[in-house]
Amino acid sequence: MQNARLSAEYEKYKSSGKKLDMSRGKPSAEQLDNMTGLLTEISDIDGCFSENGIDCRNYGCLEGIPEAKRLFAGILGVREENVVVCGNSSLNIMFDLINNAYTFGIHGCEPWSRQGGIKFLCPAPGYDRHFAITKLFGAEMITVPMLADGPDMDLVRKYAADPCVKGIWCVPKYSNPTGVTYSDRVVREFASLKPAAKDFAVIWDNAYAVHDLTDTPDTLLSVLPLAEENGTADHFYLFTSTSKISWSGAGISCIAMSEKSKAEFLEIMKVKTIGFDKLAMLRHARLLCRSLGDVMRMHASVIRPKFELCYKYFERLAADIPGFVFSRPNGGYFINVNVPAGKAKQIVSLAEEAGLKLTPAGATFPYGKDPADSNIRIAPTYPTLPELEEALALFDICVRLACSEQ
Ligand SMILES: Cc1ncc(COP(=O)(O)O)c(C=O)c1O
Repeated sequence: MQNARLSAEYEKYKSSGKKLDMSRGKPSAEQLDNMTGLLTEISDIDGCFSENGIDCRNYGCLEGIPEAKRLFAGILGVREENVVVCGNSSLNIMFDLINNAYTFGIHGCEPWSRQGGIKFLCPAPGYDRHFAITKLFGAEMITVPMLADGPDMDLVRKYAADPCVKGIWCVPKYSNPTGVTYSDRVVREFASLKPAAKDFAVIWDNAYAVHDLTDTPDTLLSVLPLAEENGTADHFYLFTSTSKISWSGAGISCIAMSEKSKAEFLEIMKVKTIGFDKLAMLRHARLLCRSLGDVMRMHASVIRPKFELCYKYFERLAADIPGFVFSRPNGGYFINVNVPAGKAKQIVSLAEEAGLKLTPAGATFPYGKDPADSNIRIAPTYPTLPELEEALALFDICVRLACSEQ
């Protein structure tokens, strides 16, 4: 009877032809609109000059203008001289770094393409686009379980003793998708890691560095100064961007690293570009050096009710369905859901057939293979609240339908 009612409700959604989307971590139109002030940060020719007099309309200034370097240095907890400011996508620079390692080699080592047998550590559940990069280059991806306070460091140390293991993907704060922030212990253990490979790269993707949602935000130690103390700084490449601070398609990004790694990185970057968009840097630095805290509180006020709406639905599911568990992160863009083993793919395809797009099941694991078929990444930020409510009601039906079957 219960099932017949669920099936009827499901069919109603399916025939309604509605299109709902909880698949990607994108800012909503309301968030983008709230950043319209960026358009008026430059209104005349005098306004096109950086604080040290660089004409931002022209070529040059490879590392980025000082005020933009300062903005990112503050966000990442590093020195300005460690920072290189780039274009609108940090993922793009991560790709470049891996490409550099494969094509030219890093830290004076043979290119990875010539060394062969390259392996890369992938904490999972993790970010599908990270895994897509290492897959494209042909590195063997080794899954490292994400624990409550970061990747399993015993395993990281064990694998890093193999010289074929060349690096690790890390999202250290409000991790995509688990929402986990690395504890002080985990950060210190990273900073003191002594990998066998001289050309081991820790990709420290701090995409959600300032993206707090609650009154009890997580704190993250800054890894680069700790690595400097340990003599390991050359292994660390820190990234962040304004993609979820201003406009995802029209922001600025950065990479921060040791002086030695920076010099090596710029040797290649200077061949690829004469400099990134400095007017974008100027606009962002002016607005955000003044008001980053207010901007992030504004975003939180839009996003928090969406997370809370998800919790309302997920609490009911957790009460009714043994094995349904979900995260309640203090920030970031995602809620991590685990459903009973073997059900994730079925739930995602039921949702898709009825018009609700979710992140594909398995995407949060290397090679798209979740061994338990249980992890689903929920991205609630993009839809409006009424759209989200509809999406969650349909998700609820799909979970109950899938889990009622033996
Ligand atoms: C962990 C993580 N890194 C990077 C990105 C993409 O960053 P960008 O827009 O700067 O390329 C995302 C987007 O969802 C992300 O979740």
